[in-house]
Amino acid sequence: MRMIKWQNGTVFTPDQTKLPLREVTLEIKTVDQMCEAIKVLRVRGAPLLGAAAAFGVALAAYHSKAGCRGELLAELEEAADRIKSQRPTAVNLFWGADRVLNKARGVSGDMQQVKDAVVVEAQKIADEDAEQNHAIGKLGAELIKDGDTILTHCNAGELATVEYGTALAPIRVAWEQGKKIKVIADETRPLLQGARLTTYELMRDGIPVTLITDNMTAYVMSKGLVDLVIVGADRIVQDAVFNKIGTYGVAVLAKEHNVPFYVAAPKSTFDLTRKAAGVIVEERTPEEVTHIGGVQIAPSGVKVFNPAFDPTPLKYVSGIICEKQIYYPKDYATLKP
Ligand code: MRU
Repeated sequence: MRMIKWQNGTVFTPDQTKLPLREVTLEIKTVDQMCEAIKVLRVRGAPLLGAAAAFGVALAAYHSKAGCRGELLAELEEAADRIKSQRPTAVNLFWGADRVLNKARGVSGDMQQVKDAVVVEAQKIADEDAEQNHAIGKLGAELIKDGDTILTHCNAGELATVEYGTALAPIRVAWEQGKKIKVIADETRPLLQGARLTTYELMRDGIPVTLITDNMTAYVMSKGLVDLVIVGADRIVQDAVFNKIGTYGVAVLAKEHNVPFYVAAPKSTFDLTRKAAGVIVEERTPEEVTHIGGVQIAPSGVKVFNPAFDPTPLKYVSGIICEKQIYYPKDYATLKP
C-alpha cells in the first residue's frame, strides 16, 4: 500500500500520530503544512521523509505564482531549506529535498517545464523507494529461517517508507514464502513507534507479533527467544548506523547473546562522507518523556534529556541489507560516498 500519494497539488499520507486508534489521512497542500507534519512526526521514518521532502518542494513548485524562472528557483530553495530544517538526523530528508532541487536547477526550459520536472522527480523518488524496499525484502528474507523469531526496534515498516518497509520487508517476504516466523516488537519509548505502529501494521497483515517494553529485551534474549534482530536506519555513516534511540542498546545485547544484528536500509540512507561524530542527533521536547499519550507521568519541571537517535558502531552490525546486496563486515571498509 502506498503511504504517500500526490494528486493535483495535494499530498495524501496517514497521520501517524493518530495510529493505531484512528486512521486519519492528511491532505497536505502547503510547504508549511508539510513542515509541521514532519516536525511532529505525522510523517516519519527515514525513507518516507525522503519522499515527503521531495513532495514538499513539489508543492512549492506546483502552487508557485513566481513571475520568472529565477524567482521560482529561489522559492524552491527556500522551501527545501525550510523542510530540511525540521529534523536534523535522517539523511533522506536532505537527500529528497536536494534531489528535486537539483533537478529543477538543471531544467533549461520555461517555468512550467521546471514545475513539471519537480513533480515528476518527486514521484520518481517515491516509486524508486517502493522498488528498493521490495528488493531489500527479497535479499533479507534469505537471512530468515523457518521458525525464526525476529526482534525489531521502532517502526521501519510500511509506515516509515513509501511502501513495504525496510526492516519489516524481509519479514514480509519470509512470511509470504510460508516460513513460520514470529516478530517481537519493542515499544520504543518515548514516542512508542514499536507499540503503536509496528504492531499495528504486522497485525493488519496477519504476521504474528508480540509486544514487549524496551527494558525486557535483555531478559528475552537471555532466554534464547530471539534468533535475529533487524532494524532500519536514519543515516549510515563511515563508522556507525544512526537509528531510533535504543537501537545501540539492542545491538550490544544482541552481541552479548550471540544474536545476529542486521540493519535494512536503501542507499538513500547512506551518508559516507561523514563519521558519527559529525552527525547532529535530534533532541526533542521534554513533554515526549514526561508524558505518555498526553498523560503526565513525571513531576512538572523535572529536567529531561530526550535524544531521538543513537549511533550503533559498525562492530555490532552483522550485515546491512541494501537494495542491491547485503554488505557484511568485510565490505564496510570498501563502502564509498
Ligand atoms: O523518529 P522517527 O519515528 O522518524 O524514527 C524512525 C526510525 O528511527 C526508523 O527506524 C528509521 O527511520 C528507519 S525507517 C525505514
